Amino acid sequence: MNDAGTAAGTIGDWLRAQPALTGIAPPLDLGALPRDPVALFLTWIREAADAGVPEPHAATLATVDAEGLPDARTLILKGVGERGWAVAGPRSSRKGAQLAARPAAALNFWWQPVVRSVRLQGTVREASPAESEADLAARSVSARAGIEPGDWVLWWIVPSRVEFWQGSPDRRHTRIVYVAGADGWSLQPGDSTPLQTPGPDRT
Ligand SMILES: Cc1cc2nc3c(=O)[nH]c(=O)nc-3n(C[C@H](O)[C@H](O)[C@H](O)COP(=O)(O)O)c2cc1C
Repeated sequence: MNDAGTAAGTIGDWLRAQPALTGIAPPLDLGALPRDPVALFLTWIREAADAGVPEPHAATLATVDAEGLPDARTLILKGVGERGWAVAGPRSSRKGAQLAARPAAALNFWWQPVVRSVRLQGTVREASPAESEADLAARSVSARAGIEPGDWVLWWIVPSRVEFWQGSPDRRHTRIVYVAGADGWSLQPGDSTPLQTPGPDRT
């Protein structure tokens, strides 16, 4: 398919002309990373908020449908801790059906002003009915409107891999990868050092 043309050029030209990775990352000490990705995530989401990200708890949740096609939508993060990362929504939704059939998911955050992204993937566990009810009860009246009794579910994503990515103007981007093992979290060897990715087209 041809690129759509405009008086000023193609959409491809226009896209290439858009600035990318224009934020400024806060200091990051690769020699003092926490042993647990939850701790680093809490630091990064607070630094994103401090840098002016309006809704730092908004994230893209990816699931897989019955045909094996990936599906994704934006959700609000409801919790982070030893049990993983929590999101919530109606059981009767597409994501509800997809998670019931295949309890696995990925979650992605992008915080432009700090040139940082976090992504994680793992299995999904449904919270207890009481915990899901408590999450629904904590929502505003307008947000609760239209939710059928028992339909609201809190899901905990239990990650097997959590990746922290930080962009740099000189393209020496940093990637920090935590992998879950039998003995807890480990940093993936070689990934916690700045990566050299030269060239104008590399992001
Ligand atoms: C910023 C933002 C936050 C959202 N938060 C939620 C949420 O916490 N839970 C939810 O079910 N849908 C939320 N939505 C709506 C979802 O993106 C999506 O449209 C809806 O959940 C239906 O998705 P599904 O058809 O894949 O189940 C949010 C949308 C936006 C743009």
